[in-house]
Amino acid sequence: MARTRRPLIAGNWKMNGLKADALVLAKGVADGVKQAGWTDRDLLVCPPATLVMAVAEAVKGSTVLVGGQDCHAKPSGAHTGEIAAEMLRDCGASYVIVGHSERRADCGETDAVIRAKAEAAWRAGLVPIVCIGETLAEREAGMTFSVLATQLKGSVPAGASAVRLVVAYEPVWAIGTGKTPTTAEVAAAHAHIRKVLDGLVADAVDVRLLYGGSVKAGNAAELLAAGDVDGALVGGASLKADEFLAIAKAV
Ligand code: 13P
Repeated sequence: MARTRRPLIAGNWKMNGLKADALVLAKGVADGVKQAGWTDRDLLVCPPATLVMAVAEAVKGSTVLVGGQDCHAKPSGAHTGEIAAEMLRDCGASYVIVGHSERRADCGETDAVIRAKAEAAWRAGLVPIVCIGETLAEREAGMTFSVLATQLKGSVPAGASAVRLVVAYEPVWAIGTGKTPTTAEVAAAHAHIRKVLDGLVADAVDVRLLYGGSVKAGNAAELLAAGDVDGALVGGASLKADEFLAIAKAV
């Protein structure tokens, strides 16, 4: 089957970056993309909300895309400290990460909450990157596939299609630990995710599935070559332009 899925390399900066350094990083990524002249892959940076507007400005004129790391389900209202999907869009974002395991754990976000956030992303014209992944205890208990299926069925809203959905598989135990699943384990998880998506999305075969968890320049080629892997969601290694570009080059 011809591969129609365009690779996506996304950087999740998490709660890192003050303006001066963030702009150097964003410009470094934009310059690197221009120099490489890539037209066959997407690069996305997701800075903290405070920097979305400045980063969007900094990468203007390049093909680098900008996203948020989370959004609220509502478009506006009395939700102190929250950020609406519409606000991210207004600042130049085109994507938003929803359901990252750090938010599931730190903020108690449930699949239902994440689903509402993904719907909010659509309402605002953003593409949600829905994150799923098992904990170490779940993996050791042999529950990986059932956890992934439950999270997908609970978090992906009805009406999803490949142009407006990205799914990121991030095993919780691989995030920030330097540990990664084997390529066979990644391929098996992604094949399972695509199978589950088949019942949820009409064009599941075209949905981009990202792998995330300790991706760096040194292991990117191997992980990205695993079956059904269409890109990466990168944390720590996305904070250095050279390293992030090296991961993108490994596509
Ligand atoms: P690390 O790449 O730092 O392991 O983080 C992965 C992640 O959580 C991306 O969303």
